[in-house]
Amino acid sequence: MNDKQLVALEAAKYVKDGMLVGLGTGSTANYFIDELARLARDEGLKITTVASSTISAQRAQSLHLPIVALEHIREIDLYVDGADEITPDKTLLKGRGSDLVKEKLLAKAAKEFITVADSSKLVSHIGQNFVIPIEVIPFAWQLAKKSLEDLGAEGGLRPNAAGDGFWITSHGSYVLDMKFDKSLDASTLNALINNTPGVLEHGIFYKLADRILIADNGIVSEYQASGQ
Ligand code: A5P
Repeated sequence: MNDKQLVALEAAKYVKDGMLVGLGTGSTANYFIDELARLARDEGLKITTVASSTISAQRAQSLHLPIVALEHIREIDLYVDGADEITPDKTLLKGRGSDLVKEKLLAKAAKEFITVADSSKLVSHIGQNFVIPIEVIPFAWQLAKKSLEDLGAEGGLRPNAAGDGFWITSHGSYVLDMKFDKSLDASTLNALINNTPGVLEHGIFYKLADRILIADNGIVSEYQASGQ
């Protein structure tokens, strides 16, 4: 069993009968979805799910997990999702798969948000390994990009898979993939991007993770923020 699967199985232990569970997006979240389906099938676990992306919704449906639409929920019991980066103060970078709007809605709506990752996701500062995905309203992309450049960021529209156009999210937005000066901490970046007109959402998940489970060479442990 690999580390991603191991940590996903650990997170599944937090799922109880009757819960409404948010499903994340990515390979680690996929292992979690598969385990929920196994528990429902083999052990009679009774849950309802809500997905952070069309791809996760499809996976859940194909595995016969009961699923409700995002617009029908006000809160959820538990959300389990992966991350692209995790900093020492427990800030996450998410959205490589571009469904960060739904991911952040579920992270906020959850009574508990458990992040699951292998140790390769641990970084010293946000944006260390990945650009910061910033979802923008299509007609505002140039104005939003200019505002972000005025803050010192560099980058541009995320290309589509074929490279002959731009990426469009499941609800019709563009994504600006931007790199900021590494001296800006997560709290500052979060506030600056939140204050940029035309920005719908961005991939910095600041103070949203309740619990972070990290698998490292076959051992799962709970990540403690530095200074705690
Ligand atoms: C999806 O948009 C991201 O937020 C994912 O959670 C992230 O890319 C994790 O992917 P893996 O679990 O495949 O590493």
